[in-house]
Amino acid sequence: MKLYDNGVAVLGCGNLGNAIAKGLVASKQFKSNQIVLTKRNLSTIEPLKREGYHVTTSNHDAVSRCKIVIVCVVPAQLDDLLDSIKQSVTENHIIISVVSGASIEDIRSHLEKDVPIVRAMPNTAIQHCQSMTCLAIRSSHQKSTNSPSDKAKDNALEVAKKIFNCLGMSIVLSEEQIVPATALCACGIAFFCRAIRAAAQGGCEIGFHAEDAIRIAAQTAKGAATLLLENNFHPEYEIDKVTTPQGCTIAGLNQMEHAGFSSAMIKGIVTSSDKAASLYTQKQQNKKQQQLKQQQHQQHQHQQHQQHQQQVQQQEPHQYQQQQQQSHQQSQYNQGHNYGHQNQHHHNHDDQHQNYYNQDQKRRNNRKHRSNENYDNHHHHNQQYQQHQQPTQQESQEQTQQPEQTQSTNQSNQRRNSESRNGKSPQKQPQKQSQVQQPSSTTENTDQQQQQQPPQEQQQQQEQPQQPQEQQQQPNVVDEAERPKEQQQQPQQQQQTIDKKGYNNNRRGGRHYSYNNNYNSHHHRHNGINKNSSSMYHDEKRHEVKTEQIN
Ligand SMILES: NC(=O)c1ccc[n+]([C@@H]2O[C@H](COP(=O)([O-])OP(=O)(O)OC[C@H]3O[C@@H](n4cnc5c(N)ncnc54)[C@H](OP(=O)(O)O)[C@@H]3O)[C@@H](O)[C@H]2O)c1
Repeated sequence: MKLYDNGVAVLGCGNLGNAIAKGLVASKQFKSNQIVLTKRNLSTIEPLKREGYHVTTSNHDAVSRCKIVIVCVVPAQLDDLLDSIKQSVTENHIIISVVSGASIEDIRSHLEKDVPIVRAMPNTAIQHCQSMTCLAIRSSHQKSTNSPSDKAKDNALEVAKKIFNCLGMSIVLSEEQIVPATALCACGIAFFCRAIRAAAQGGCEIGFHAEDAIRIAAQTAKGAATLLLENNFHPEYEIDKVTTPQGCTIAGLNQMEHAGFSSAMIKGIVTSSDKAASLYTQKQQNKKQQQLKQQQHQQHQHQQHQQHQQQVQQQEPHQYQQQQQQSHQQSQYNQGHNYGHQNQHHHNHDDQHQNYYNQDQKRRNNRKHRSNENYDNHHHHNQQYQQHQQPTQQESQEQTQQPEQTQSTNQSNQRRNSESRNGKSPQKQPQKQSQVQQPSSTTENTDQQQQQQPPQEQQQQQEQPQQPQEQQQQPNVVDEAERPKEQQQQPQQQQQTIDKKGYNNNRRGGRHYSYNNNYNSHHHRHNGINKNSSSMYHDEKRHEVKTEQIN
């Protein structure tokens, strides 16, 4: 039997919306192509297209095509959804809302139309046409009159009853009872499922496979429900029929009660009901409080802004006039940088943007200045370093007797050095220099090992007996200009500056961790602005001296 040819729109096709859509088809009231389903993200309901359902993100389209509209979003999403259908809803529509906690008046006032609204509280068994659905169209203190509006409401209730009776059973209540019905009827599915699971767990413990236990427990629960619904007796009457004196049923039942079975169920339902009552109103209150806070904040900002304007005008009238003239030219900048002022069109706000602009420019200039300074320092250190390194390398090359194997390496390094002197890739020089001063492949390996060794091992090697104690005790106080020569003459003196923890005590008093030379030079290249270049200088010098010492 088809109730309406022009179809049903299910707005918000989540768990319940899906179940309703399937139930409507299963009950043969509607064909799938008479049902329009909406959702913002369609991915989960795309497959329903193949079954013939219409699927869309547009609530407006859905409402335009269908007379019956079932609203199935969660309370927090309701306002947005109502906004999206405000224009398309007419007084000829029938709105059925299953949204917990949102009253008929809440919805009607939001839509700003006297459209008939029915509240419904079904459960997910609706998919198999086994739902219990509680319906309401007005509260207990409202009476139906013969007004056209009331007639339309009564008509809407009749339509809803027909639909939900085909999807299980329905009952008409006053609107106040819809919230408790949420706990008993909608949440009830979960409570009874948990009861069935508990029964199945018990069944498993006494010897049934889990699937068998669930099947037995679920069908038994359905039987109990059928007994109550068909015989229309009180549950205790059916219980009495199965509890023989001193029998196993009463023994088990009493044990459950000792553990608080009935009490737990009652408490759970009351708690759910309390929670359901505040689902929508709580969200509304939170939203209103947020709006209020925002308004207060905006007012406060506006007051501060006005006070600031007055101060500026009093203290710096000349500057203020200049800013006013410039503000027009910089309006484009202001538009691109929204500083959170909603009233940008307001003339006075141009001045505040001007101040922001000036502050921002100052900050940028300061940053630029700082970074230039850092760059200059860095560049200066680099130059100093280069000046130190060039004579040192030449001298070391003259003094060191290099085997034939390494001559080609040295030539290429000399080439690189001369390139760096000519300004080509000077920053790469420190790493290359370590290769220049390695006289043989054996030494190279030893040196690399030294670089990779942890500080303790380094320290052990430094304590080799070939170093005279006197030299080890000499303080490292050489003047910077003379340093390269000094180091050539007293190579072991430099090594003495590495203490037991692997720190290199340089002569400027700084303590630089010299364990990983490569890291330092790499770090220096990339973060040279912050790095003390003397650290790198000493790392490299230490490395040269060690190499010579090994030789
Ligand atoms: N589940 C039950 O057993 C049961 C029983 C009785 C009553 N209820 C009530 O039914 C309502 C829905 O419950 P539910 O369990 O089905 O929730 P749900 O699974 O979260 O479904 C809500 C659906 O609405 C969609 N949605 C949100 N905003 C939308 C918008 N503006 N336009 C179109 N679609 C929108 C969401 O999908 P997108 O995010 O992709 O848009 C989501 O799939 C709730 O108010 C609940 O209290 C539920």
